[in-house]
Amino acid sequence: MQHKVTVIGGGNVGATAAQRLVEREIADVCLIDVVEGMPQGKALDMMESAPVEKFGAMITGSNTYEASAGSDVVVITAGLARKPGMSRDDLLHKNTEIVGAVCREAFRHSREAIFIVVSNPLDAMCEVVKRITKLPRERVIGMAGILDSARMRWFIAEALNVSVENTHAFVLGGHGDTMVPLPRYSTVAGIPITELLPAEKVAQIVDRTRNGGAEIVNYLKTGSAYYAPSSAVVEMVDAILRDKKKILPCAVSLNGEYGYRDLFIGVPVKLGRRGAEEVIQIELTAEEKAGLKKSADAVKELCELLKV
Ligand SMILES: NC(=O)c1ccc[n+]([C@@H]2O[C@H](COP(=O)([O-])OP(=O)(O)OC[C@H]3O[C@@H](n4cnc5c(N)ncnc54)[C@H](O)[C@@H]3O)[C@@H](O)[C@H]2O)c1
Repeated sequence: MQHKVTVIGGGNVGATAAQRLVEREIADVCLIDVVEGMPQGKALDMMESAPVEKFGAMITGSNTYEASAGSDVVVITAGLARKPGMSRDDLLHKNTEIVGAVCREAFRHSREAIFIVVSNPLDAMCEVVKRITKLPRERVIGMAGILDSARMRWFIAEALNVSVENTHAFVLGGHGDTMVPLPRYSTVAGIPITELLPAEKVAQIVDRTRNGGAEIVNYLKTGSAYYAPSSAVVEMVDAILRDKKKILPCAVSLNGEYGYRDLFIGVPVKLGRRGAEEVIQIELTAEEKAGLKKSADAVKELCELLKV
């Protein structure tokens, strides 16, 4: 395999992302976790599935970072997951410590890597990685929008009884209760859902998308969603490593786009071998702008609390 991806955090999201990456032969994977033996055990277990699953990619597990050297992409999923009743923001301080430490170590061994951040609170953790690595904005990208829009796509497909493949959804903003789903850009076979569903159903879908993470947490009781989150991570890694120039909603540090600067916000981004190669700007209505501002204010507020 030509490409190498390090996944930090061998928990639910990290291990499932690693599994999808090797099974699809997108890259060789180095899985890292603080828990002794856990990443080694999971990696060996996955390698033992290779003869049956028929993949040729390699996965190794480690508790240290030497094994991660020379990675093309580093995915950070280390940290605490949200518990029922716990907001993403409660996680801020603990996960700042964890994400700060792991990105410092990973960057020491992979100076050319593109960093995909998954740990919550997402937009603030992206800022932590950016401040510590001082990487250009192309190379620190947060995963949230693909997950949020995948959830919205499923809700649309379910409501209209159509293939998920015909659906497209558009979600802007921070990854949290203030995200901004855009129904007029969310379509089925190119037709806006606002023309296909009554306004109250659209509002219901928007609401359910905003609360998509909490809905799963409430079912699971312990831990949070990981099948859809890991799929979203893999789509990003694939778009980057295969230089797909795919437009996907991701969190990037804005450079004046949408009227914001030095703030991670979810926007449509062109993902390719250089990372977040371009931010795609669209015209927003006054209401959408207000939604984005609320979201931006929430991210800004969290970032002001960061101690890095
Ligand atoms: N951005 C998103 O849309 C999104 C979606 C789902 C989950 N998340 C977040 O991703 C993170 C991981 O979620 P999960 O469900 O996999 O949690 P998890 O608890 O299953 O896994 C987290 C792993 O991180 C490891 N870890 C903790 N400190 C570490 C360190 N210093 N170095 C290396 N590993 C360390 C833990 O041992 C654990 O195995 C959480 O912060 C969660 O909130 C984000």
